Amino acid sequence: QGTMRVNDKNHLEIGGCDTVDLAREFGTPLYVMDEAMFRQNCRAYYRAFTEAYGAEVIYASKTLTNLAVCTIVEQEGLGLDVVSGGELYTAARARFPMERVYFHGNNKSPEELRMALEYKVGRIVVDNRYELEMLNAVAGELGVKAKIMLRLSPGVEAHTHEYIKTGQIDSKFGLAIENGMAMTGVKRALELPNVQLKGFHCHIGSQIFELQSYAHAAEVMMTFVNHVYQETGYTAEELNMGGGLGIYYYQGDQPRPVKEYADVMMGAIRAIAAEFDLPVPKVIVEPGRSIAGPAGITLYTVGAIKDIPGIRKYVAVDGGMGDNPRPALYQSKYEACVANRMNEQPAEKVSIAGKCCESGDMLIWDIELPPLQPGDILAVSSTGAYNYSMSMNYNRLPRPAMVLVNNGRADLIVRREDYADLIRNDIIPERLRSTVV
Ligand code: LLP
Repeated sequence: QGTMRVNDKNHLEIGGCDTVDLAREFGTPLYVMDEAMFRQNCRAYYRAFTEAYGAEVIYASKTLTNLAVCTIVEQEGLGLDVVSGGELYTAARARFPMERVYFHGNNKSPEELRMALEYKVGRIVVDNRYELEMLNAVAGELGVKAKIMLRLSPGVEAHTHEYIKTGQIDSKFGLAIENGMAMTGVKRALELPNVQLKGFHCHIGSQIFELQSYAHAAEVMMTFVNHVYQETGYTAEELNMGGGLGIYYYQGDQPRPVKEYADVMMGAIRAIAAEFDLPVPKVIVEPGRSIAGPAGITLYTVGAIKDIPGIRKYVAVDGGMGDNPRPALYQSKYEACVANRMNEQPAEKVSIAGKCCESGDMLIWDIELPPLQPGDILAVSSTGAYNYSMSMNYNRLPRPAMVLVNNGRADLIVRREDYADLIRNDIIPERLRSTVV
């Protein structure tokens, strides 16, 4: 997929770069980001939503963000969804146009709200009543009017192949439509002097393959827009439908084309607007995984191999849950290949272990691979989303580097942490020093 192929040395190549050379030059574990594919994924959204329907596409930073990624997203004409002061700061330092930034989060601090208003972000997506009042106060102090959307909980819970309409009142995110909290929130927002309500937001889940759940969410949201209009005379100008399109990780995953996703969602919104005789709102979507996920791979070096006769063969690599916590957290499944011997056929079943002191630190259970030897380079695919952004220093493992590859060029975009980085914030109080004899 993307710009991945096997070169004449039987090595895996990505973005025109030999992965074995990348591992040698930059070390492992190594995150490799295929720039062409990342851009292609941005463009698929831009074409399907922006060009076709005038909708706005904002990339979800939580998926993967850093200065280079923000720069590419900006160049591709997308906006940005940030959920913390840290993500906002990253966007600002990348000189991302702030009017294209949406600030999310269910517990923004007053400092974060102030920062967002000072940076003049495009929209603040208000999650709850507490935040609404606080934002009104902070905006008042700064003498500005905050442009906001209200996050609603539409009562649509999406699963891979189905959706159910229960349980969502019980969510830490947003104001539920079903029990009236949303309507009360809207009325309050319309009353407050320092906020300007632009519309509504919802997000029904992630790694979704069932497009009908979006049509269903659109229906619930537009019905609410109509209800609000009937009760207050207010017409929502904007409707943010969140992110969530699923990607291929493992056999059986069947991602839907972005165009189909756009057509189903926009079709539903337009149809319901027509039915209620409402203007079609400006639509916003905020994909993350489906842009960054397929564009990333992680390279590891094989180390210890432990064959427990009749039980299992453990092949340990030099990373694991520190750089990819998803298998340990969600039992996520990944595929991998031996990057330095792509011509060899799978010959044995092994399990890929990480190097953390934790039995759950397994990257892949039971995968058929060519016979592995220490020093082999293992490439795990679809690691562009929620890997680097969720990485950690458990066991004081330094976080890996990230390189951006394109047309045979490889540029470091995140440098590898070193041991000094690990103790950078450590402090020995003076009184401990004085007791040392
Ligand atoms: N918008 C909102 C409000 C969200 O909460 C999310 C993801 C997105 C957009 C982007 O969704 P995407 O297009 O990436 O599905 N750590 C988990 C995923 C958590 C998703 C959180 N919200 C994982 O590794 O699978």
